[in-house]
Amino acid sequence: MIRPEFDAKYKEHLQRKIKELKKSCGALLVAHNYQRDEIQEIADIVGDSYALARDVKLAPEKTIVFCGVKFMAESAAMLSPEKTILLPVEEAGCPLADMATADKLRKKREQYPEAAVVCYVNSTAAVKAESDICCTSSNAIQVVKSMKEDKIIFVPDKNLGRYVREHVPEKELILWDGYCVVHMRLTREEVITTKQLYPGAEFIAHPECRREVLEEATYVGSTAGMLKYVGESPSEEFIVGTEPGIIYRMKRNNPEKKFYIPTDQFICANMKLTTLGWVARSLEKQIYKIEVPENVVKKARRTLERMIEVVK
Ligand code: 13P
Ligand code: SF4
Repeated sequence: MIRPEFDAKYKEHLQRKIKELKKSCGALLVAHNYQRDEIQEIADIVGDSYALARDVKLAPEKTIVFCGVKFMAESAAMLSPEKTILLPVEEAGCPLADMATADKLRKKREQYPEAAVVCYVNSTAAVKAESDICCTSSNAIQVVKSMKEDKIIFVPDKNLGRYVREHVPEKELILWDGYCVVHMRLTREEVITTKQLYPGAEFIAHPECRREVLEEATYVGSTAGMLKYVGESPSEEFIVGTEPGIIYRMKRNNPEKKFYIPTDQFICANMKLTTLGWVARSLEKQIYKIEVPENVVKKARRTLERMIEVVK
């Protein structure tokens, strides 16, 4: 999406400028599935949280411009310490990640000394450092199943935690009271109304949505999982229960299919902070370099590496 006064010529000018800057400093441009269309158009890699962390590590480039939010750039920086990770907008954060602190997590651990801590990747580096293993929405069930402990403290997203609990009944999950402010906005009523408007459409959703919303879905998964599902399903129409940035690739990969949003309040403002102008500025000035304190990195990186070992 682009402002109306932001015409095609100017967009092309900025995109050309970014490509030139990228070439001159040998940088790789990566973007999360929720980024603006015009950023996805010129990104070298577009993906979900897991794919981006993994692909940045595998990439030969030494400078990465990470179009996403801070916890994603931090994870990439911890997994690829030899690279410079630039986040174009310094304040692009994630309210869900900020709902858990290392202090509170330490206290929770004292309450349940026999439990392991699984942290969703949407968490700060300091919280990751207090955890045993990390997970993303694409592998949370697999990660929890892999734990030897029967009791798991799952931090910080209670909706994803509840979804995992339903799929891994053999484990006792202690949930944190965190949630995504964007996915929590969607109600069951809105889903039902949209289904009535488009009776032929399948409803698919991200596990950060409320339980009663997930009950309405024929598929629940990460942004990459949803993208794969719409390509494989015989359905022609879909109601998409996640941030609408994902629809850019859904349409591009499936031009014959139709995609609808169940609410227009589904925008992740933090993801949308990144614009072409900020990306160009990031490359020009080589800002904002993501640096995680050394005492945190060591422990936090281990949780990410453990996740990669479990899912490979
Ligand atoms: P994915 O890992 O599914 O891309 O989700 C990231 C996210 O922030 C969802 O709100
Ligand atoms: Fe965070 Fe929610 Fe935005 Fe994802 S959609 S980055 S969880 S605020």
